[in-house]
Amino acid sequence: MTPVLRTHPDRQRLCAAVLGVMHDTITGALASRGEALVGLSGGSTPIPVYRALASAQLPWDRVRFLVIDERFVSTDEADSNEGQLRRALAPVGPTLQLIGLRGEAEEPVAAAAAANAVVAALPRPDLLLLGMGEDGHIASLFPQGRGCDAARAPDQALRVMATCPEPLPAGAPHPRLTLTLSAIAGARQCLLLMTGAAKRAVYDRAASDPALPVGDLMRAGMPPLQVHWSP
Ligand code: 6PG
Repeated sequence: MTPVLRTHPDRQRLCAAVLGVMHDTITGALASRGEALVGLSGGSTPIPVYRALASAQLPWDRVRFLVIDERFVSTDEADSNEGQLRRALAPVGPTLQLIGLRGEAEEPVAAAAAANAVVAALPRPDLLLLGMGEDGHIASLFPQGRGCDAARAPDQALRVMATCPEPLPAGAPHPRLTLTLSAIAGARQCLLLMTGAAKRAVYDRAASDPALPVGDLMRAGMPPLQVHWSP
């Protein structure tokens, strides 16, 4: 399915458009199924969207959020995606339901196995919000690194796996836990948010470059993908 690319003049308008899609998706899921499940990525771009969404009047007891990928650190460390998401979603208050991947395990493979069991028991996500790195990674599916090929395999039965990017990104040098490509492909819809000319150039060549994980999303069998870009 060909992705829909929406370009926005600036980040503020990108965030407003994405907020609208998230809000409409959640209210649509609540109306049709009585509950909503939305997967969220970390990163700087979507944080204002999460803050604004969390301030909306929604029946939060029927909305669940899922962390799409996680760094293998304690959730109270600054590099934790779950920690970052909890802070952004704090306006929801005590009814916030955010399902993390980290758990209590002492090493990533065991943590991924535990998280896989949790995610496998969840309904099909209504929406996954993804970011993209300049290396073309989405979630913690990197072009190279331990576990990345297996986690990107279209027929992978596991929903969550451990990966370790190679080279380790300087800004977050940690092993990772991630939804697999097949888990992402199983969602009802995906949003991909990116800003800046460098990421746009990566995105534009991804469909024809099988090394780039973001290109996996564009290949056959993926869910509807809406891409939001601004300078
Ligand atoms: C991670 C992040 C990462 C992020 C992209 C985009 O755990 O490393 O979730 O995958 O989504 O790097 O980040 P920005 O929004 O900051 O550009």
